[in-house]
Amino acid sequence: MVVAHEAAELEQFARLPYVVYAQREAWWPPDINSEIELLSGRALIAAHLEMASFLAYRDGRPVARVSAVVNHRYNAHWNERLGQLIHFEALPDEDRAVGALLDRSLEWLGERGMRAARSGFAAFLDYPYAIDGYNDLPSFLMRGNPECYHRYFKNAGFYTEKGQVDYTAPLTQDTLQRYSAMVRAMEPAGVKLKSWRTFGFPAAIDAWTDVINQTFERHWGWNPISHAEVRPMLLPLQETAVADLSIIAEADGLPIGAVFSVPDLTMPLARLKPGFKLRPERGGGTRGALINVGVMERFRSRGVARAMAAMSYLAMASRHLRFAGYTLVLDDNWPSRRTAQSLGARVTNSFVSYRRDF
Ligand SMILES: CC(C)(COP(=O)(O)OP(=O)(O)OC[C@H]1O[C@@H](n2cnc3c(N)ncnc32)[C@H](O)[C@@H]1OP(=O)(O)O)[C@@H](O)C(=O)NCCC(=O)NCCS
Repeated sequence: MVVAHEAAELEQFARLPYVVYAQREAWWPPDINSEIELLSGRALIAAHLEMASFLAYRDGRPVARVSAVVNHRYNAHWNERLGQLIHFEALPDEDRAVGALLDRSLEWLGERGMRAARSGFAAFLDYPYAIDGYNDLPSFLMRGNPECYHRYFKNAGFYTEKGQVDYTAPLTQDTLQRYSAMVRAMEPAGVKLKSWRTFGFPAAIDAWTDVINQTFERHWGWNPISHAEVRPMLLPLQETAVADLSIIAEADGLPIGAVFSVPDLTMPLARLKPGFKLRPERGGGTRGALINVGVMERFRSRGVARAMAAMSYLAMASRHLRFAGYTLVLDDNWPSRRTAQSLGARVTNSFVSYRRDF
C-alpha cells in the first residue's frame, strides 16, 4: 500500500474507476484532471482539508483506493471531530487489501484526533453508496458502486448512518399542467420566480450560495461554502442550459429560494458501450435533474420550493426532456420528500452513507 504522492501514483489513483467499471454498459467516469488537482492540494477546496490518499496494490496492480480527509470547515461548523473517507473504489474479491486499506486510513484519522469516520457524503467531495439499481446508469453525481462495497464497509466496522433517496418525475401533459398552476400560484403570494439567466447568471451564483448556506446550515452532512470557491465552479456553466433550468425565487426584491438544475448530461459526460440504449428515464438525452433546492425558513410551507421545481421542470420539458430527477434527499427529510411527491415524482434509487465510531 502507498500514500499516493508521486505524479504516477496520483494518476493510478485517479484512474482506478476505469478498471472497476470497465465492464459496465453505462457509467460516469471521473474528471481525472480535477481529481488530481484535488489530490495534490491545488484545488480551492483543499485549503480547508488535510488529506492523504491511500492506494492498495496486489501483484503490482492497484486494486483499491481511498482518501482520508480531515475537513476543518465541517468540524468547525458542527463542533465535531469527524474524519471523512472519500474517493473509495475497489475491485471485487479484494477483501484483504480493502480491509488493510480502510484500517490504515482510519488509523490516519485517529492519529489526527478524529473520533469517527464517515464515508459516502461530504459537500462537493463525496456521494453516497447505491443499494439498488446496480446495473443502471445512476443519476448524475450519484455512485453506481458494485454491491461488494457494502460488505467491505461492514467488515471494517462501519454501520449505515443515513439513507438517501433519488426521485424521478415523468414530464407528462398532466404533470406539466399541474406545474403551470404551481408556478402561477406564486403571483398573488408576491414571490417572483426567475431563471438564473433572467436573474443574471453571476449574481444568481452568489444568491444560490447565500440561500444554500442559510437553508442547509443544519442539514446533516453539510458545511458552509464560500463565494470564492463556488464562482469558478459554476461560472463556466453560464452559456449552458443550466442558466435556463436553475431558478431563483425573490420576495421584496431579495432572493428567498434557489434551485440548481442540470440538463441531461449523459451524452457529454457518461460512458456508454457502443450500441447500448439507456431507458429514457435514466438518460440518453431525455432526463434532466434538479440537484438541490432551498427556501429561507420564513417563506417555507407556502409552495415556493414546489413552484421553483415546477418552473425548472417546465423549462426541461420545453427542451424535450421527458423525465426529471429530484436528486438525493435524506430518508428523514420529510419537507423535501413531500415536495418531490407533490411534483408527482417517485423514488427510483436508494443510497446509504456509512459511519464508524472509534
Ligand atoms: C425542503 C424545502 C426546500 C421545502 O420548501 P418549502 O417551500 O417549504 O416547500 P413547499 O411549501 O413548496 O411544500 C412542498 C410540499 O412539501 C410539504 N412540506 C413543506 N414543508 C413541510 C414540513 N415541514 N413538513 C411536512 N411537509 C412539508 C408541503 O405541504 C407540500 O406538500 P403538499 O403539496 O402535499 O401539501 C425547505 O424545507 C428547505 O429549504 N429545507 C432545508 C434545505 C433542504 O433540506 N433542502 C432539500 C434538500 S434535498
